[in-house]
Amino acid sequence: MIVITGAAGNLGHHVIASLLQSVPAANIIAAVRNPAKAADLAAKGVQVRQADYNDGASLDSAFKGATKILLISSSEVGQRARQHQNVIDAAKRAGVALLAYTSILRADTSPLGLAAEHVVTEAAIRDSGLPYSFLRNSWYLENHTENLAPVLEHGAVLGAAQDGRFSSATRADYAAAAAAVLTADQPQAVYELAGDQSFTLTQYAAEVARQSGKAIVYKDLPEAEFKAALVGAGVPEGFAALLADSDVGAAKGGLEDNGKQLSALIGRPTTTMAEAVKAALAK
Ligand SMILES: NC(=O)c1ccc[n+]([C@@H]2O[C@H](COP(=O)([O-])OP(=O)(O)OC[C@H]3O[C@@H](n4cnc5c(N)ncnc54)[C@H](OP(=O)(O)O)[C@@H]3O)[C@@H](O)[C@H]2O)c1
Repeated sequence: MIVITGAAGNLGHHVIASLLQSVPAANIIAAVRNPAKAADLAAKGVQVRQADYNDGASLDSAFKGATKILLISSSEVGQRARQHQNVIDAAKRAGVALLAYTSILRADTSPLGLAAEHVVTEAAIRDSGLPYSFLRNSWYLENHTENLAPVLEHGAVLGAAQDGRFSSATRADYAAAAAAVLTADQPQAVYELAGDQSFTLTQYAAEVARQSGKAIVYKDLPEAEFKAALVGAGVPEGFAALLADSDVGAAKGGLEDNGKQLSALIGRPTTTMAEAVKAALAK
């Protein structure tokens, strides 16, 4: 029995779609905060169980019979270390043979502020004594392409990453890697996962311009100005600060990786930035 936490989210859905290619639906448990958001998974025969990262008893119920667990990091930034500890404690009580965890690229040396909670969680997983795999994911390509409407409207990609390179990959590619690790006989302890190719935000803007036929440039801003622009666009203050800090981290090389471990794990090249732009423009 393989449990996926956060399964109602975007990555969770992709992981379950990948797992269903080789694992019977009845052997997959979708642990979700709100089962109503996982009705599509239940319809496929996946076991949907209610589990809140804040509620250890719900995690114990969800993990009954589990042999492997994928902990998809919580989306509640700032609460994550404590929430993840609850999951680790429940995984230990369940005595699973593998606890996999979606972390961040080179968590231990990352310049991104977002890495702090991942470092704490990785240490807690190591301390638990459970067999583990860290899936250290770089940036999602969707972080760039999900927000194309204002880019097309204003003719500008905004950021604070200077010439920093992003080795971004799609959620579907990271999910395929997670499924490969969850079904492997002998998974590694640490995977640094990233797209095969890297790009600067100037190159990204040029690709959006090429495919859309519109004049689009990359406008690099100081961190505080980029944060203010995000807040102006409706992003909550704290999250805007983290996103601006992440761009500064990317300028320092924190999201670039040339190891190609992701494509090796999934057995095919990763989706390119140009393909992701094409898919986003077609929506
Ligand atoms: N590498 C990157 O570029 C990148 C970008 C964004 C996020 N991330 C990280 O990767 C994770 C997965 O990405 P995603 O796109 O799948 O995010 P997502 O769609 O927001 O999914 C996150 C899931 O976490 C669940 N969750 C939040 N708090 C919970 C709690 N207290 N108990 C149980 N479940 C809880 C949410 O449940 P509900 O459905 O009930 O809200 C949601 O289903 C994110 O949570 C975040 O940690 C990485």
